[in-house]
Amino acid sequence: MEDTTENVDVESGNTSDPEEDNCSDNDFEPSKLGTKEYWEDAYQKELETFTDIGDVGEIWFGEGSMSRVLRWMDKANIPENAAILDIGTGNGAFLVELAKHGYRNLTGIDYSSASVELARTILHTEGLTDVTVKEMDFLNCHGDLKGFDVCIDKGTFDAISLNPDNSKEGKKMYLKVLKDALKDKGFFAVTSCNWTKEQLLDRFSEGFDFVQELPTTSFQFGGKTGNSVTALIFKRVH
Ligand SMILES: C[S@@+](CC[C@H](N)C(=O)[O-])C[C@H]1O[C@@H](n2cnc3c(N)ncnc32)[C@H](O)[C@@H]1O
Repeated sequence: MEDTTENVDVESGNTSDPEEDNCSDNDFEPSKLGTKEYWEDAYQKELETFTDIGDVGEIWFGEGSMSRVLRWMDKANIPENAAILDIGTGNGAFLVELAKHGYRNLTGIDYSSASVELARTILHTEGLTDVTVKEMDFLNCHGDLKGFDVCIDKGTFDAISLNPDNSKEGKKMYLKVLKDALKDKGFFAVTSCNWTKEQLLDRFSEGFDFVQELPTTSFQFGGKTGNSVTALIFKRVH
């Protein structure tokens, strides 16, 4: 996730700390994008903008980041009654798309109260009143998240990884909560701009099978090809 306000390329801040973390994905330089205050402030402003002019605000990684996951869900025959969790739902735009696609057992959580109010307001405006949105810290959910067929994360693991206080603990806790939240053979769809495919495969190796990478826009530079966003599907296995 790039902090566009300060033009910080977080990928260049990837530092090594092999003694404390066996994964190759080590820590990034901390950023305000890893703080609750940042998101509270951001979604408070988006809420005011939505109230004023009806603009839903930032769609992280663009519309394509939602349609590529929806296309995979269609191909994977995820049933319309599947229990789906959007981790760190933000403005709830993905919940809106999922509901419009026919999914009817939808839950979004976010630790920002302004995000939750914004997501609920947008869903209500769209007439989508059956979607559950809860104010909840994914890393401190006390076992309340269970039994999901699909967990979706678009930019939230990135944000957690940038936490200035305890990103290492946060990443470990994320994995634990995610494992508990998913049913056996449930799917995890993660979209990230901070982590490479290899780093995500490493991070989500234990308790998950890699299913597939979703195609994202790639770029070429210096004879090499790379992707600015990585989208992967995993399956929970016990
Ligand atoms: C980059 S935004 C992405 C929002 C949304 N998924 C999207 O794609 O538009 C990261 C989101 O993660 C939320 N978040 C970060 N840490 C969280 C945590 N520990 N528990 C719940 N939500 C969290 C933030 O409030 C923010 O809404």
